Amino acid sequence: MSDLVRLSVSIEKLLFKRLERLVRNSGYSNRSEFIRDLVRRELVEQQWEHNDEVVGTITLIYDHEVRQLSGKLTHLQHHHHDAVLATTHVHLDERLCAEMVLIRGQARTIRQLADQLGRQKGVLHATLSISSTGAELV
Ligand code: NI
Repeated sequence: MSDLVRLSVSIEKLLFKRLERLVRNSGYSNRSEFIRDLVRRELVEQQWEHNDEVVGTITLIYDHEVRQLSGKLTHLQHHHHDAVLATTHVHLDERLCAEMVLIRGQARTIRQLADQLGRQKGVLHATLSISSTGAELV
């Protein structure tokens, strides 16, 4: 673990109460860990804004009976084969599929791929979960 630094922060009483409630409701055992994670979350947001190399997951829910949809989704992923690390496919029922695509690459490319996949006809829901390669979070 890196060296720890103690800091003191001035904060309004009401805001402090809200912070304490957030820490409690989020299940953190202490305030410091909550604030560390808050800073890390902000760092990840910045990496995405600055088009850094990032890691993310695209989750798609789609109807595989829609004509040519499975082929289109595969085609788009092949087009970005350098960014797509792995794909997991789950058959939800007779008709619906869930596909989780783990990706690593420039933030802008990843967003474009997520948008392209999500707007195909027959894709009912698409989410992009953003994360980091981790190097700047320790
Ligand atoms: Ni399926």
